[in-house]
Amino acid sequence: MKFVALSSQILFVPTSIILAICLCLLTILIYFWWVLPNHKLVKLKKCGFHGPTPSFPFGNIKEMKRNSSFSSSFDITHNIHSITSPYYYSWQKYFGKVFIYWLGTEPFLYIADPEFLKIMSSKVLAKKWGKPSVFRKDREPMFGNGLVMAEGTAWVHHRHVIAPTFTPLNLKTMASMMVYSTRKMIKRWDTQINSGNLEIDVEKEIVATAGEIIAKASFGIGGENGKLVFDQLRTLQMTLFKTNGYVGVPFEKLFNFKKTLEAKKIGEEVDKLMLSIIEDRMNSNDKKQHEQDLLGHLLKGNHDIDGNLNKTLTKKELLDECKTFFFGGYETTSLSITWTLLLLALHQDWQNQLRDEIKQVIGNVEELDINLLANLKKMKWVMSEALRLYPPSPNVQRQTMEDIQVNNLKVPKGTNIWIDVVAMHHDVTIWGNDANKFKPERFMNDANGESNNKMGYLPFGFGGRACVGRNLTFMEYKIVLTLLLSKFNFKISPSYHHSPTIMLSLRPNHGLPLIVQPF
Ligand code: HEM
Repeated sequence: MKFVALSSQILFVPTSIILAICLCLLTILIYFWWVLPNHKLVKLKKCGFHGPTPSFPFGNIKEMKRNSSFSSSFDITHNIHSITSPYYYSWQKYFGKVFIYWLGTEPFLYIADPEFLKIMSSKVLAKKWGKPSVFRKDREPMFGNGLVMAEGTAWVHHRHVIAPTFTPLNLKTMASMMVYSTRKMIKRWDTQINSGNLEIDVEKEIVATAGEIIAKASFGIGGENGKLVFDQLRTLQMTLFKTNGYVGVPFEKLFNFKKTLEAKKIGEEVDKLMLSIIEDRMNSNDKKQHEQDLLGHLLKGNHDIDGNLNKTLTKKELLDECKTFFFGGYETTSLSITWTLLLLALHQDWQNQLRDEIKQVIGNVEELDINLLANLKKMKWVMSEALRLYPPSPNVQRQTMEDIQVNNLKVPKGTNIWIDVVAMHHDVTIWGNDANKFKPERFMNDANGESNNKMGYLPFGFGGRACVGRNLTFMEYKIVLTLLLSKFNFKISPSYHHSPTIMLSLRPNHGLPLIVQPF
């Protein structure tokens, strides 16, 4: 009898404790996922912001998913905002160019008004911009705390160390590897064309070549090792993309539990592989290699002038930066070239103009003189126009780290910012009635393409946090295009379906099959 009473007491105590813990947890969850978001909603409304009504726990995600069937067509229009982001397009009609929408329990301030952005950014120092915490967490395996995601004094330190690696002098040491990889691709195309098959999926080819280039430019690895790193990093990116459809929703990872575990495992493997590359390089005395890639330049920066280890960046920081170069650099650059080839295939006149310019400025491409690339003016206009119509980074994300007053509106500290670059690049009120036409000459006398507001053109972001790697892109873009246009003519393939789609980057959803003929 005594025994039964004792055991029920033992049972009773833990049950009540478990209940109390559950109650506490529930209270915490309700606070973070219900009370706090509602508090933010009320605060944002008080500050003067409105937008589509969110519902718990998805915010506006369900509406966005309903509204985003990937559309494709044989008609090629550059008026793509309603195709890539139909939800923003329709919300703009109701709420204007600045409004609040919700990813799960996270509010985002949507901005497609360059004047609003101009005033806001004039009040914020680069180091006072944060990145949305939900994305920092979600994309941790890709970027870690690398420059894209770093904040505050950590960002200042990293930017200070990294920016000098992209000087024109350092970049020139990478030119030969770009030429090498592009020539390898051209050889593959030659073989295919000689076998009678003129249709080439140019996107797939350029992505592979840009991946090879960035693996060599970032960590100096080519051949089979380079391919292994490239394949692993790309698999990580694709797996993560499949898990991030519910960013901001409580317990979002449970929606794709298997894929989340898979991404974690691949992330760990990638880190292991890349750490071993970094360690090998740290222990190597090959000074020449140190001067040929981004990791080498960073390692060199890690030593003081007497050659002693300065520990500017730790091993983990170097790892995060190398991954950041890869993810920040290869796809954006390859997409800028891919979209350009689509535009040139549609505009034979511009294709010919660029060929003439290459002949005049470069002359013999067999012995490409890198110093002459800067004189390819028309190619630069074409690039700027391609980045306007099809910006590979279709949005810029930030987070406010302090309250910002913009006219009569207050953007509270901690607000996530979503800048819709595609919307602004196609806005007739910024570019005029020909906003959706391919007109490279608009960049002839103006780096901002004669837009009526320079914040309306943001392919590389803005302010002190603008893209650190754009010079590398300019060089790669010019090398690849120069070699391709000197050799081939490009026409649209009848099998091309125009379907620009945002999957982190802006890409052609069904690739870019072109008819490629020797010139
Ligand atoms: C067409 C090619 C590229 C495009 C369109 C592009 C676009 C962008 C954009 C929109 C940002 C965000 C800027 C902001 O928040 O204001 C950014 C940042 C960044 N990009 Fe690029 N990028 C390109 C090429 C590259 C390359 C080749 C690299 C490196 C190898 C690179 C590395 C970075 C890094 C590290 C940042 C973070 C900068 C910071 O926050 O301080 N990007 N890029």
